[in-house]
Amino acid sequence: MRDLTPTPSYDATRSQVADYFDGTATRVWERLTSDAPVSRIRQTVREGRDTMRALMLAQLPEDLRGARVLDAGCGTGAASAELAARGADVTAIDISPKLVEIAAARMPEGLAGRVDFRAGDMLSPALGRFDHVIAMDSLIYYTRPDLEVALEELRARTGQIVFTLAPRTALLMAMWHVGRAFPRADRSPTMIPHDHRRINVAGLGRIGRVSRGFYISECLEVRA
Ligand SMILES: C[S@@+](CC[C@H](N)C(=O)[O-])C[C@H]1O[C@@H](n2cnc3c(N)ncnc32)[C@H](O)[C@@H]1O
Repeated sequence: MRDLTPTPSYDATRSQVADYFDGTATRVWERLTSDAPVSRIRQTVREGRDTMRALMLAQLPEDLRGARVLDAGCGTGAASAELAARGADVTAIDISPKLVEIAAARMPEGLAGRVDFRAGDMLSPALGRFDHVIAMDSLIYYTRPDLEVALEELRARTGQIVFTLAPRTALLMAMWHVGRAFPRADRSPTMIPHDHRRINVAGLGRIGRVSRGFYISECLEVRA
């Protein structure tokens, strides 16, 4: 039986992610996830992320009325808004209080009552049980052991987790090596590419990959 207590390295990564998204990156992230003009490179990332969000949301039933859904690491809340529009009771949680504030401010008025916004850890047992969990680009910074514990923690409380990882492509591996050799001054968290076949969690399956310019991400699913 695996020990499911979050490890010091999980806590350290989460704290680095929180500092980054709640500090230097808040405005950049707010802009990237809006309709405001961005550089051509960021535009490809935006398009790739839109495609990925649609792919992830397509894994859940179209009619989500009566379903409890966790948007784990909700950022500025794009997925939460779509889930709420499909009738789900959404819990939108992020470790960055500033991003949660932006997500709440962006939520269309008619849907706001369907979303419970929280600032905190997506693994908190106090959140209760869910029919579905979606974690878009929020587990990409964690080591394989921490990722496995996180998925087991979530799996114990839901029937389906749809999440993304950075795959071990040549480009992402090169970026990872450079990131490790030259830690950045803004302490931005490093994305860790994974081979999903090595992730030891029951019920794990691959949905598909989105590659658009600098956005390369793999959609995976765990079914309990
Ligand atoms: C790349 S952003 C993606 C945000 C959103 N899911 C989206 O796709 O627009 C990653 C988000 O995950 C959040 N995050 C990472 N680890 C978390 C944790 N343990 N608990 C809650 N949020 C977390 C970060 O704060 C950040 O907002």
